[in-house]
Amino acid sequence: MKTAADFFKPLAIGAPEPIRELPVALERTIHFLPPHIEKMRAKAGQIAKTVDVLLGNLEDAIPIEAKEAARSGFIEVAKAVDFGQTGLWTRVNALNSPWFLDDVTEIVAAAGNKLDVLMIPKVEGPWDIHFVDQLLALLEARHGVQKPILIHAILETAQGVKNVNEIAAASPRMHGMSLGPADLAASRGMKTTRVGGGHPFYGVLADSTEGGEKRAFYQQDLWHYTVARMVDACLSNGLRAFYGPFGDFQDDAACEAQFRNAFLQGCVGAWTLHPKQIEIAKRVFSPEIDEVLFAKRILEAMPDGSGAVMIDGKMQDDATWKQAKVIVDLAKLVATKDPERAAAYGF
Ligand code: GLV
Ligand code: MG
Repeated sequence: MKTAADFFKPLAIGAPEPIRELPVALERTIHFLPPHIEKMRAKAGQIAKTVDVLLGNLEDAIPIEAKEAARSGFIEVAKAVDFGQTGLWTRVNALNSPWFLDDVTEIVAAAGNKLDVLMIPKVEGPWDIHFVDQLLALLEARHGVQKPILIHAILETAQGVKNVNEIAAASPRMHGMSLGPADLAASRGMKTTRVGGGHPFYGVLADSTEGGEKRAFYQQDLWHYTVARMVDACLSNGLRAFYGPFGDFQDDAACEAQFRNAFLQGCVGAWTLHPKQIEIAKRVFSPEIDEVLFAKRILEAMPDGSGAVMIDGKMQDDATWKQAKVIVDLAKLVATKDPERAAAYGF
């Protein structure tokens, strides 16, 4: 375990100072772009205007014969596009893959000053973060990168979930985590072929009655436990938590329900793999208008956050003031990018 005195020291001579607090950023949608496809590269600048984060995907879903093309395609997009307020991330291949080393070295060399976040798949423990942390520091120093490139871990192995707190606390370079339900299901031996969402057989059966009426079956959220663990690990370390992919592009309602569960539990965004998921994510991860208006009333009624008041018959105190502040702070952040919602929130 590193001492507190050493935690914020740069890991290489000439590397930028590690950050002490995450930069404020709206990250409701992490939109996955397959950068080996020319048509998608051509659209990247346009797509970037409609999402909060554009991510060049180099890992799963990219065919093996297109891995190099995806890497060079991402570099091309990173250099060509002015991303403005939109974040630029990439998901590189796994640490043990034949592509990881070239992914990181080539991307930092060519676009290190434009890249905000490096997403690392299949993180198993803090040792994976330490390795990437050191490598990034060396590359940042070599290529004159001005601000640290942050690390985002995908939580998608049983061992990763077991070590989730240690992963979150591994480095000041940690940005956050995403739940990867597909790999995680496989790693845990869960019996589902779905990418996220519920399962019709996972639920509870209502008690039997003497009359022998048909018993109701209530479907449960398969991902509740993991999202909760991830949120606690992230938020207690000052990081952000995200839901990952939702694979059924035919079922928008189920996608929305999955995203909303994650939002209510503490996540700030989700991956969008299909263009129609962008509006779903923006809607779900922007606070509800009525919630914002009520939260504003709480803050106005208790300007210094202390004491107790009643609003519409509901008790408000220091704790509900803090809850209201979470919602109003998020609404203010959304308002910086979204004039329609800003007006509805009354900012
Ligand atoms: C994402 O990478 C997943 O495996 O779900
Ligand atoms: Mg995965």
